[in-house]
Amino acid sequence: MSELIKVAETKDVPAGKAIAVDVQGVKVAIFNIDGSYYAVDDTCTHKGGPLSEGELEGTVVTCPWHGATFDLCTGNHLGPPAPTGVTRREVKIEGGDVMVKV
Ligand code: FES
Repeated sequence: MSELIKVAETKDVPAGKAIAVDVQGVKVAIFNIDGSYYAVDDTCTHKGGPLSEGELEGTVVTCPWHGATFDLCTGNHLGPPAPTGVTRREVKIEGGDVMVKV
């Protein structure tokens, strides 16, 4: 059964930044956008680019490899060349801990 797992502390993810974490073998990107946290799989569905290293504009991240765009609220892909979206993960803040479910 999946459960929320501590993956980082809030101080590790400053506003406007992202980190990559491994959650039970799944690479997950955690984003802090103006104090709201978002988590999606870190592996672009095009050729596996690391979304945690992508440019942020609002809640849209651009894959650093070939420019596909994804909505962090849903995981949906917004622009090519990615063929599909990425899985969005539940993220929760408890005290100063960032918790994610995979
Ligand atoms: S790997 Fe992400 S757009 Fe190509």
